[in-house]
Amino acid sequence: MEHSPVADLAHDVETAALAAIRGVAPDVERPAVPVRRGERADFQIDAAFGLASALSAPPRVIAERIVAALPLPLRDGADVSGPGFVNVRVPAESLWRRVDRFLAVDSVVAPDRVPGTVTVVDYAGPNVAKRLHVGHLRATLLGDALARLLADRGDVVIRQNHLGDWGTQFGMLVQYHAEHPESAPLPPGPGALDALEDRYRRARAAFDADPGFAERCRGRVVALQSGDRESLEVWRRIVSVSVAGFQAEFHRLGVDLTPEDVAGESGYNAVLPGLVDELVDAGVAVESRGAWCVFDDDFTDPEGTPVPLIVRKRDGGFGYAATDLAALRHRVAVLGAHRLLYVVDQRQSRHFAQVFAAARRAGWLPDDVEAVHIPFGTVFDHAGRPFKTRSGDTVPLHDLLDTAVARARQVLAERPAPPEGDLDAVAEAVGVSAVKYADLATSRTRDYRFDVDRMVSFQGDTGVYIQYAYARIAALSRRAGGVPAADCDPRGPVADAERALILHLDGYRAVLAESARRYEPHRLCGYLYGLARSFTTFYEECPVTTAEPVVRNRRLRLVEATRRVLSHGMRIIGLTRLERM
Ligand code: ARG
Repeated sequence: MEHSPVADLAHDVETAALAAIRGVAPDVERPAVPVRRGERADFQIDAAFGLASALSAPPRVIAERIVAALPLPLRDGADVSGPGFVNVRVPAESLWRRVDRFLAVDSVVAPDRVPGTVTVVDYAGPNVAKRLHVGHLRATLLGDALARLLADRGDVVIRQNHLGDWGTQFGMLVQYHAEHPESAPLPPGPGALDALEDRYRRARAAFDADPGFAERCRGRVVALQSGDRESLEVWRRIVSVSVAGFQAEFHRLGVDLTPEDVAGESGYNAVLPGLVDELVDAGVAVESRGAWCVFDDDFTDPEGTPVPLIVRKRDGGFGYAATDLAALRHRVAVLGAHRLLYVVDQRQSRHFAQVFAAARRAGWLPDDVEAVHIPFGTVFDHAGRPFKTRSGDTVPLHDLLDTAVARARQVLAERPAPPEGDLDAVAEAVGVSAVKYADLATSRTRDYRFDVDRMVSFQGDTGVYIQYAYARIAALSRRAGGVPAADCDPRGPVADAERALILHLDGYRAVLAESARRYEPHRLCGYLYGLARSFTTFYEECPVTTAEPVVRNRRLRLVEATRRVLSHGMRIIGLTRLERM
């Protein structure tokens, strides 16, 4: 068997199975090697069925031959079951050597794609002068987890926070600020966003009630667009206060976005007229009822009427679509992206499909550049209703986090052994991670309910459960004081819980690859929960520090391998790794 330091057992079994199949069926050119992780066995080789007609023998007989052709020690643990499955039980020695392989290299997994793919991840994208609300949770957390996941696999990841910082609403906002200088200055942090949103509401009310104000606002839009200094200055202040507020929230969430990742809509302003001209010259955009639009037969409403992508409105203004086209072109032409990801609400699916199609036609999105919209579902309140405050407002994200932290604090304080250290700090880490985990562990296209009690429970599929497993491992390592060197004799027996844990660890590489390939962090979450469970069973069934030296050392090494995988995975999905809790 081949023992590349990063290859998993599945790979070893596949290599051995391929050699065996080649021996059994030398004339079959490219034999399939279907190896699966099994429930009845560690692995299952299902090749016999596909070879039956070529070899004109019953699958069971072929399966027997495959077993006989497997190398030792794998052959000893292999047998035929049912109509022709080959069940493989990995020998103890290979399992312990697998643990050694985990500890032999620094990285628990090797990137499997060509390093250097430039991937732009567009995520978060909040709107200036409004606070973050529950709707931003997934756009932010999913994007952040995917960015780390892809970077870990060797991509050069460029984060883009496509801030909503431009549009006619700023005329209103700037005008309101200009007329109410007494309402400045704004408090720093998320409080500034609350204050700004409050002013936004007042400005909107004044706009609707007072025709004079509305008129002045329209004038202000023109002033802003023509670069009026004073107007731009007020606008800039609103933007920078907002960015600082978002930053405080990202920091609390442990989100990697920085102010350098901000690529606001306003930044594309200057190129929009030229961009639309190009589309018109290329015949991609046509005039329709006074607006400039891109039509595509693929995009029609239920009656079959084509739905335009409006790149220039009747009033001459440019909107969301034109800006996204400009951003896309910039990402490909200037940032050198090979792949563009957009982590945005599924309600914008058609928008992105249309933007991508228009960009392909315009030649801004070459065939070898992939553009993917990564949609996600809605977060409802605990009763399954749209998330609103009693007055019908959106619920600010920081309120949700506060609720989760408060609940976590309660749960922690009521435990038989409450945290030794700073309860508030642990509660903050547990509460925020609980929200993050609940979000990321849900298949992203599904809607879910924000149920704080479930999120912060020590029982069940929660972030807390995983954090607790990690903290237990940390405590165990502290007690043991260091990881023993490789066992010179790995031929010891392997307990059921050890076997299950090692095999679970062995599946990590495949899960990372699959999560990355499908842009689905929930697969990684499910894996980590399963790992924490396997570890908990092991912890309950297999004494570590009190075992005889050889067993103790082996188990300590297994614990360390578990710690590494858990730590790696928790970092990617963004759960705080508490050494004590
Ligand atoms: N600001 C937008 C919204 O709130 C999200 C931006 C998403 N990214 C993009 N490139 N359009 O809906």
